[in-house]
Amino acid sequence: MGGDPRQDYLALVDTLSEHDRRYYVDANPTISDVEYDKLAKRLVQLEQEHPDWIVAWSPSRRVGHAPVSEFPKVTRPVAMLSLDNSYDEADLKAFYDRCVKSLDGDVPVFAIEPKIDGFGIELSYKAGLLTLGATRGDGRIGEDVTANVKMVKGVALRLREPVDIVVRGEIYMTKAEFELINKARAEAGEELFKNPRNTAAGSIKQQDPREVAKRPMWTILYEVVDGERYASGHLASLTFLRKLGLPTSTHNTSASSWDELIACVHSWQDRRDGLPYELDGLVIKVDDFAQRTALGTTAKFPRWAIAFKFPARQVTTTLHDLEINVGRTGTVTPVALLEPVDVSGTTVARASVHNWDQVARLGLRKGDRVLIQKAGEIIPEILGVTEAGPGEPFAPPTECPFCHSALEREEGRVALLCPNRIGCPAQILGAIEFFASRHQLNIDGLGEKVVVQLVEAGLVKDVADLFDLTVDQLLSLERFGKISAQNLVKAIATARESATFSRLLSALGISNVGTVLAKPIARRYGTLSALRAAIVAKSTEDVVTELTEIEGIGEVVARHIDRFLRDEHVIAVLDKLATHGFDPAEPVVATADGPLVGKTFVVTGTLTAARADVQKRIEAAGGKVAGSVSKKTTYLVAGADTGKTKLDAAQKFGVTVIDETELQKLLGGTA
Ligand code: IVH
Repeated sequence: MGGDPRQDYLALVDTLSEHDRRYYVDANPTISDVEYDKLAKRLVQLEQEHPDWIVAWSPSRRVGHAPVSEFPKVTRPVAMLSLDNSYDEADLKAFYDRCVKSLDGDVPVFAIEPKIDGFGIELSYKAGLLTLGATRGDGRIGEDVTANVKMVKGVALRLREPVDIVVRGEIYMTKAEFELINKARAEAGEELFKNPRNTAAGSIKQQDPREVAKRPMWTILYEVVDGERYASGHLASLTFLRKLGLPTSTHNTSASSWDELIACVHSWQDRRDGLPYELDGLVIKVDDFAQRTALGTTAKFPRWAIAFKFPARQVTTTLHDLEINVGRTGTVTPVALLEPVDVSGTTVARASVHNWDQVARLGLRKGDRVLIQKAGEIIPEILGVTEAGPGEPFAPPTECPFCHSALEREEGRVALLCPNRIGCPAQILGAIEFFASRHQLNIDGLGEKVVVQLVEAGLVKDVADLFDLTVDQLLSLERFGKISAQNLVKAIATARESATFSRLLSALGISNVGTVLAKPIARRYGTLSALRAAIVAKSTEDVVTELTEIEGIGEVVARHIDRFLRDEHVIAVLDKLATHGFDPAEPVVATADGPLVGKTFVVTGTLTAARADVQKRIEAAGGKVAGSVSKKTTYLVAGADTGKTKLDAAQKFGVTVIDETELQKLLGGTA
């Protein structure tokens, strides 16, 4: 060094970039970590002393961006297509034959590449500088995640030649790093990530690049857009990428006959588990760009490439027990606890069994030898029993393991449900999120993420605690500033003031009591305290009789309501709401005029407008909305995919079936 200090600085940037490349691209570092750190420190020091010297490609520029609230969309001229899949030799042979036939009998050279199970990305360089990193999105429109992509190891900020080039590849996390992250999360009591792929995908969409920097991710590039500008064939274009300083797979090979191709595919059966990242198969591509053009693409896939998916791995192990899991919306599912076994390089100790019907179908018992399968990224599942265990078959649980409420089976659904929405500790997140959602109490700014934060920080233990939140408490949470804290407290106050009893009732999440059914109940009782008093004063049978007098309420729903409001956990939360003085009344609506007075509607199927909005408009026009078709129904408004049951009922009761357009006419009073 010596001479012009600015030149020395630029040389240092180049030296460090070169060491990054050797480390992350070539996996072949030439200096020790300590030496590297010394150089990096010197760089930071120089940049602090001379901020005007800093260049965009300085390794220091990888960190320090402020969080973004939303990623800008980018529209790309060349869509990122997906790949057609093949699952066995016959599929692959058909692809091979199709290629040869379309090329008039010429056998093309095929490139064979590992298919990394990660997250697709596109990097654009102008004059050698990274200008854009974009997600695949829907293929045509992706998201600009440039700041985050800079955190990915191997993504060069500046290429070794000043070229304009667009490249595509996969961002991934290694299996080892994924397990380390999950271990740390388990220790911190945080929810575990499912697999390396989801973790990488979630990480690249983190809004704060500084958070992204904490998740070790790598990249391997596998396509050059308009590759023919740089080379005549695909593998040569990848060699060019290497020369530019970008990472490509060292496992890529080529084959020029079917025998070579299939031999290579077979050789991967043993190698697939040996790589540090998860593979879900191979990608086989015609190498020559002119031949690719001749083969062309379909709307979705190129005809010159195919993915070959590895067969799913199956192993047998012992089933020790079934654990009962209660999801955030109360769905109760069995989880198999297994003798840990290695499947495709990961240890499997749990498997999903979907639902209790599946448990019965498989005839599961303690001590069974079971065949399990791990297919790519999917959680392992039990395929069948190979040897029955000594125990009794598992019976479905009757009560919730968390709150001991009696479990229900929703009509027509296989899932078991813990009905104790607001009082069950396993459902707290889902209950609060639902309570605050748009069609319920409509608390602006209280979405899933914030709910998780509030519960994790111990600020909110049930829905009633929301009304105790203060600006100071919120300020102690990450991502909350003065304005956002004030806004949330204000939104809760606003929701409280504008709440009606029917909104509150449906927000509690009683099975089958949605916004429609809540209305007539609310009109009948006026307030939640009045409804609760009516229930306390009577026997269940009398309550059921009284409730079924209300239009639209049958015995099943009446029993749900009765049971819910007698549940001790629910009562505890409702008492807390009452001590907050939160007991909104149901306004008496004047429906004396309006074009729909005296008419009762049932709205079903998929409509162009949100169903809740359609219902609101019917009511605003004086009409009534009911949940099920009966002889009291005037019109059935049938959207797309209307069920046969509803249509049959309409015919049986002589109810007129109309569509959305006809409803518009009625609403406008023109029919
Ligand atoms: S080529 C038009 N090559 O697999 C060809 N894709 O299932 C586009 N992938 O979206 C892709 N490794 O995210 C290609 N060596 C490889 C790949 C690869 C993984 C991913 C990629 C793609 C998906 C399709």
